[in-house]
Amino acid sequence: MSSAALTVYAPASMGNVGVGFDLLGAALAPIDGSLLGDTVTISAADSGVHLAQVGEWAAKLPPAPEDNIVYQCAEFFLDKFAINRGVALSLSKNLPVGSGLGSSASSVVAALYALNEFFGRPCNQQQLLALMGEFEGRISGAIHYDNVAPCYLGGMQLMLDLPERICEAIPAFENWYWVVAYPGISLSTAKMRALMPAQYDKSVAIEFGKNLSAFVHASYRQDAQLAITVLKDVLAEPYRAAAIPGFEQAKQALAELGMLATGISGSGPTLFTVTDDLAKANEANAWLQAHYLTEAGGFSHICRLDSQGARVLAVE
Ligand code: HSE
Repeated sequence: MSSAALTVYAPASMGNVGVGFDLLGAALAPIDGSLLGDTVTISAADSGVHLAQVGEWAAKLPPAPEDNIVYQCAEFFLDKFAINRGVALSLSKNLPVGSGLGSSASSVVAALYALNEFFGRPCNQQQLLALMGEFEGRISGAIHYDNVAPCYLGGMQLMLDLPERICEAIPAFENWYWVVAYPGISLSTAKMRALMPAQYDKSVAIEFGKNLSAFVHASYRQDAQLAITVLKDVLAEPYRAAAIPGFEQAKQALAELGMLATGISGSGPTLFTVTDDLAKANEANAWLQAHYLTEAGGFSHICRLDSQGARVLAVE
């Protein structure tokens, strides 16, 4: 066990990346160097789990600490590894809940990464990722790794869903800018999942398979033109777009500005829009700030992919 307090950061992430519903996800790093993600600080306590909830979005969390997923992660971890010590945790809730930026994944990943580091790494990477998926699934209503995997491991991750190989990193387009805009409203992932049909036509299944396989192929070939051509969401966006105020208008306006592709980040309401041109990214960012951010707390950022994933920020 570490005697020093550790602070762990876990970045925001885009589930689906439009083309890979539940199967593709990417971690985000604002190009201005700011951190966009939750942090968890862990230190020793005599017994039990103690959780403080701080940060810009802490007021939106359930007020009782034991209802917080970070508290539940710690309780589970101490019990599973028969750790006869207590822990004090402080969650800095920097991502809005229900934003489509992997907010619950960020809390879960920061908490389990911090616990694993603090107690001498009893879990290997795949075991820890499986736990992250299980705990995040308690909040979002279903286990899908497309937020926890990139949040933990960084970059663009493709889900394989094999017991010992949950995901694999695929090459990113290093010159792409991902502008992400969160309008300020909160949408429940479970409700956004419920909007989607239980079954799809064969033609849609084939279109989905073609787009995702072509995107992965294009990523390996570094064929940006092909990747952009197939960066389309035929499974979720047709059913979710109408539930996200202003999404359709924004997508249209961003296309007119020359952005290469626009889609829903995770289950929304955050949208992402892609370009390889920084001037266009700045224009899109300004448009989104003026037109898409409707509520207090909304924000938009020009991002690259975060290649590092979860990491220790400070040891005290
Ligand atoms: N793949 C999930 C969904 C991500 O779209 O429901 C949720 O952030």
